[in-house]
Amino acid sequence: MSQRIKIKSLLQSGETGFETTVKGWVRTFRNNQFIALNDGSTNQNLQVVVDFENTDPALLKRITTGAAISATGQVVASLGKGQKVEVKAASIEILGDSDPEKYPLQPKKHSLEFLREIAHLRFRTNTFGAVFRVRNTLAFAVHQFFQERGFVYLNTPIITASDAEGAGETFHVTNFNLNNVPKTAEGEVDYKEDFFGKATNLTVSGQLEGELGAMALSDIYTFGPTFRAENSNTTRHLAEFWMIEPEMAFCDLEDNANLAEALLKQVIKEALDKNADDLEFLAQRLAEEEKQKPQNERLELGLLEKLQFCLDHDFERLTYTEAIEILKNSSQNKKKKFNYLIESWGADLQSEHERYLVEKHFKKPVILTDYPAEIKAFYMRQNEPDAEGRQTVRAMDILFPGIGEMVGGSQREERLDKLERRMDEMNIPKEELDWYLDTRRFGACEHAGFGLGFERLVQFVTGMGNIRDVIPFPRFPKNAEF
Ligand code: 4AD
Ligand code: MG
Repeated sequence: MSQRIKIKSLLQSGETGFETTVKGWVRTFRNNQFIALNDGSTNQNLQVVVDFENTDPALLKRITTGAAISATGQVVASLGKGQKVEVKAASIEILGDSDPEKYPLQPKKHSLEFLREIAHLRFRTNTFGAVFRVRNTLAFAVHQFFQERGFVYLNTPIITASDAEGAGETFHVTNFNLNNVPKTAEGEVDYKEDFFGKATNLTVSGQLEGELGAMALSDIYTFGPTFRAENSNTTRHLAEFWMIEPEMAFCDLEDNANLAEALLKQVIKEALDKNADDLEFLAQRLAEEEKQKPQNERLELGLLEKLQFCLDHDFERLTYTEAIEILKNSSQNKKKKFNYLIESWGADLQSEHERYLVEKHFKKPVILTDYPAEIKAFYMRQNEPDAEGRQTVRAMDILFPGIGEMVGGSQREERLDKLERRMDEMNIPKEELDWYLDTRRFGACEHAGFGLGFERLVQFVTGMGNIRDVIPFPRFPKNAEF
């Protein structure tokens, strides 16, 4: 029996005049003759031509949308348009039937909302096939970027006792029987009795442990799932998302921003190079979606142009203080069109402000630095107060068109006294983070890092509007299907 070949290789090579076997799922079957077969290796379907006059009618009936089949035959030049080669089937075997009356994916356009409900089958659509192949390319490209630069891939714990961001958005992890929770004499939950002997949660970020690694290995990165119990029902938030967190010793905020910009550009370029077909398809999908919108709400650039634009231009860099001036003086603010008006320095930036800066004002990715200490985490390096006595920290957020915050990072406070003072001010329990403070006691040095939200990156590159459509099985409030 001839070996099975993947459809992508068959179509790419364009060779003809040999016998082969292909396996995949039937997308459509036309005129009892033409099967559009897809095996997920590419967005392109392979045309398999059936000699219906010499095929058992009972078998023909079983070639239905969704069925898994194996087809063996000669690879020949195709007369049909849209493909160079096709397979003239000498034999067809049904590997798995699919009852067309019951199969939820009909050969027609389904809404993304509907497909989300059948996420176990949506991989079989053109859109999701493309999205998850692009996601795969981006993940590999992230590893490649760091590996080329000698970073050590470090796996930080998923179960932890710390809340790295101090935002109180952790999911608890417990082995208690919730109907009978052990209590202390004072009536408090007695975590000493729990599996780990203390209160634990799912990690919100691997940063603190990542810093420990960087203080010995120089450059590390994590790439793993993180969990946030923020009750945000938006198109940009998940309760479980993947984050890439590099941490570098002997590195300041500018090096940090340079690294993030280089990373983003390299992985976007990889996707453009490796997934041209998929991105072409997604670009068309997006263009059609855009046509449904009123003219003035449409995107200025198509997906491919947008990605190329991002590669060709330096990201805009400015401080929070400069951004506040722009926002304060914007017509949007003056005409009171923001939901949250920018009145004074110190205001936290809402997504509407971030999007104004990148989409309306600069029209490109923006790196915002030096935020007020008040609105940022405890570990960020403190600047000298400015002339007006305002306290900022060496933070950086990278904002992207259509996405808002893609990256959050900072230079870290390596000075023990300043770090401890800030922890006290913010009520961060020092005893519990004694291990973290040790890096400031023994061989502390300048260091920095950032967190890149992987799904937001996939969203940007694929042009998908909802973050729930770029992760196989999204977790969000009131949903943990599959
Ligand atoms: O800005 P964040 O909260 O930063 C940190 O966690 C730092 N400890 C990172 C570091 O310096 N090592 O999160 C980083 C990024 C955000 O910019 C965003 O892209 C993404 O993670 N993110 C989310 N993505 C999807 N759903 C959510 N709920 C997200 N929350 C943050
Ligand atoms: Mg952030």
